[in-house]
This record gives sequence, C-alpha cells and structure tokens, in this order.
Amino acid sequence: MALLWALAVLSLLPLLDAQNPECANLTAVAAITNATLDKLSGKWFYIGSAFRNPEYNETARLIQAGFFYFEPKHAEDKIILRQYQTIGNKCIYNFTSLTVYRENGTMSVFESGREHFADLLLTKHPKTFMLAASWKGKKNMGLSFYADKPEVTQEEKKEFLDTIKCIGIHESEIIYIDEKKDQCGPLHKQHEEERKKEKEES
Ligand SMILES: *[C@@H]1O[C@H](CO)[C@@H](O)[C@H](O)[C@H]1NC(C)=O
Ligand SMILES: *[C@@H]1O[C@H](CO)[C@@H](O)[C@H](O)[C@H]1NC(C)=O
Ligand SMILES: *[C@@H]1O[C@H](CO)[C@@H](O)[C@H](O)[C@H]1NC(C)=O
Ligand SMILES: *[C@@H]1O[C@H](CO)[C@@H](O)[C@H](O)[C@H]1NC(C)=O
Ligand SMILES: *[C@@H]1O[C@H](CO)[C@@H](O)[C@H](O)[C@H]1NC(C)=O
Repeated sequence: MALLWALAVLSLLPLLDAQNPECANLTAVAAITNATLDKLSGKWFYIGSAFRNPEYNETARLIQAGFFYFEPKHAEDKIILRQYQTIGNKCIYNFTSLTVYRENGTMSVFESGREHFADLLLTKHPKTFMLAASWKGKKNMGLSFYADKPEVTQEEKKEFLDTIKCIGIHESEIIYIDEKKDQCGPLHKQHEEERKKEKEES
C-alpha cells in the first residue's frame, strides 16, 4: 500500500509518443546493469508523483514525506529497501526487498499479495531518477520522482515535468511531498545508532 511504484505488466516504452517533443530527451533504461545498481545505491528522497491509477493516486495523496535506502545485492538481482514514510503525521517504517529484472529495466515488489512492477527511468542528472508505472495501458500511467536530497534544482525538476507532460499528465496533477512534515527523524536516528553499534561489535 505505502509503496508508490506501481502495478505494471505493460512496459511504458511502447506507449510513449515519439512525436511528442517532451518525450525527446527521455532516457528509459533498456537494461539494468551492475553500474545502474551502483548508481541507485544509497539514500533517496521522494519528491513527487502523479498517477492515473486510482489506487496509486490515492496512496500518493496520503504520503506527506518520505525517504528510503536502496542497498543493491548484485549477485541476487535484488535491492534491499528500507523506507521511512510519513502518513497521517506518523512515521511508518518498512523493510522489504525488490526484484530486479535486468533484461527489461524493470523492478518489482510484492505487496498486498501481488507483484507490482515499475520501469526505471534514469535522468540526465545523476542525483535523480524516476519510476514509471502503467497498468492496463496508457490511461493508468504514472510517474514518481526521487532525488538524493529533499530539494531539487529547477533543471532537475524540468526533466520530471517534461516526462509528466510526455505521458499526458498535467503539471497541476502532480502531488509533491512536504519535507517539513517528516516525522521519521527520531526513528531514523535510532536505526543509524543501532547500525553503528552493530558495526562496532562485529
Ligand atoms: C520484465 O521481465 C520480467 C521477467 O521476465 C517479467 O515478469 C516482467 O513482466 C517484464 N516487465 C516488463 C515491463 O516487460
Ligand atoms: C532536449 O535536450 C536538448 C539538449 O540538451 C535541449 O536543447 C532541449 O531543450 C531538450 N528538450 C526538452 C523538451 O527539454
Ligand atoms: C488523482 O485524483 C484526483 C482526485 O480524484 C484527480 O483530480 C487527479 O486528476 C488524479 N491524478 C491523475 C494524475 O490522474
Ligand atoms: C555484477 O556483479 C556481480 C556481483 O558482484 C558479479 O557476480 C557479476 O559478474 C557482475 N556482472 C557483470 C556483467 O559485471
Ligand atoms: C509497512 O508497515 C506498515 C506498518 O508497520 C504495515 O501496515 C504495512 O503493511 C507495511 N507494508 C509493507 C509493504 O511491508
């Protein structure tokens, strides 16, 4: 429920309108390599999203703030996800694992008894990335945007906005998070201290 990467069985790519100038600079990942996984490794902030799919649309509007850690396991084609989301002014922590389908640039997670897929879109800017969702075709398309800090530059944001336009969603439909509403600071700090202690003991 809390995760925002999507439901997708159909790939986003054939649905993009190549004639649309906003789609020109879009760099979807054809395949995920070890280098891609290295790039995704670390801490990311959830910046904003827009989903046509009603379930994801609703979830997106509940999330006040969010950040997470990606820890790739190259040999297993997995990414460990530690996620801190603020929903209803409460911090919700989740620990889960994503499956990486290297050959088609897709990741998935099991939630609510089914596998949810997302296509990875890398941006020109190394400090941001996007995940795209589609479900039963274009009318359920969606996009979420992540960065390595809670604020993005205008230039970084432009890539997200272009992609939003490219998939036919209006800018006014984007839901941005509000970093000031984050309630996960104390829990995150506690986890960091525990991890530090574990490292010292081992
Ligand atoms: C990617 O490949 C996996 C495994 O073959 C498949 O389950 C998934 O549906 C594919 N995703 C897309 C978007 O084609
Ligand atoms: C695509 O990239 C080129 C070169 O960086 C730039 O001039 C152009 O404005 C970009 N197009 C869009 C729609 O952002
Ligand atoms: C999300 O839902 C709201 C309220 O129903 C709607 O106004 C908005 O257009 C939806 N967003 C997208 C991207 O479809
Ligand atoms: C990717 O990384 C894994 C684990 O380090 C390694 O086993 C594999 O050979 C690497 N693949 C390539 C193509 O370098
Ligand atoms: C995340 O955590 C919340 C609260 O602990 C739980 O209700 C929810 O099912 C979890 N979601 C996942 C994907 O594990």
